[in-house]
Amino acid sequence: MSGGAAGIGRSIAGRLAADGFKVAILDVVTDAAVQAAEEITESGGVARGYGVDVSERDQVDAAVASARAELGPIAAIVANAAVAIQQPFLEMTLEQWNRTLAINLTGTFNTVQSALPDLVSAGWGRVVLISSSSAQRGAPNMAHYAASKGGQMALTKALAMEFAKSGITVNTVAPSSIDTPSVQKKRAAGRMPSAEDMAKYIPVGRVGTGDDIAAAVSYLVSDGASYVTGQTVSVNGGSFIG
Ligand SMILES: NC(=O)c1ccc[n+]([C@@H]2O[C@H](COP(=O)([O-])OP(=O)(O)OC[C@H]3O[C@@H](n4cnc5c(N)ncnc54)[C@H](O)[C@@H]3O)[C@@H](O)[C@H]2O)c1
Repeated sequence: MSGGAAGIGRSIAGRLAADGFKVAILDVVTDAAVQAAEEITESGGVARGYGVDVSERDQVDAAVASARAELGPIAAIVANAAVAIQQPFLEMTLEQWNRTLAINLTGTFNTVQSALPDLVSAGWGRVVLISSSSAQRGAPNMAHYAASKGGQMALTKALAMEFAKSGITVNTVAPSSIDTPSVQKKRAAGRMPSAEDMAKYIPVGRVGTGDDIAAAVSYLVSDGASYVTGQTVSVNGGSFIG
């Protein structure tokens, strides 16, 4: 899985390890990826951490090859790595646009395409892309991010149809208002409302956790989810129903 060193990805990595998966954590922060894998191993799971920038295809391919050698063939792919930088549209440079698309969307392409042949060979597999409610409802000052996440949703549908006969399901989880360290940093910098203020607008009355997202991913990668493909699972406390 990509981006498993922190936040939602760290919760997903822990949950999938608890579910019995051997987890390869590909993250641009190498130390944190290795540390997350060590923590999972100490808790009785099997995990390895690899320093990878998902926008660099050669790095992804090298990590996938190492993971295959160390942990065995890949059965499930979770593309979670992303950046979410706030920038008013008229001030957004082409470089900023391209960088967000390169990590969030092309990084997803790199991660999935690099590992998918294992799933095809096995005739069974699970792919889960972590997108965002920003693509469902829009997000001011985040046009590049919302576009990249909408691209993941379209990619989900295209791949679901292309690989349905191969025993592979492809779904996306669209989180909203999940309390992660990166969100807490934005709050501390005054760029986001407090968790309490956000909770007032969320029907279930609280912000979400990484474990909320991990639970949805756990289901989607399970055997029991074999008839669910091409779907967006919105994990958002009841916001934006429809
Ligand atoms: N937190 C939320 O409220 C929220 C809402 C909607 C969607 N999401 C999505 O959930 C996912 C995780 O969000 P989060 O809040 O945990 O973010 P985060 O910033 O805390 O974690 C992202 C992880 O991806 C890694 N990463 C960043 N760039 C990378 C790159 N180029 N290559 C490899 N790894 C890279 C980071 O090091 C980090 O470990 C993202 O896809 C995000 O868009 C989050």
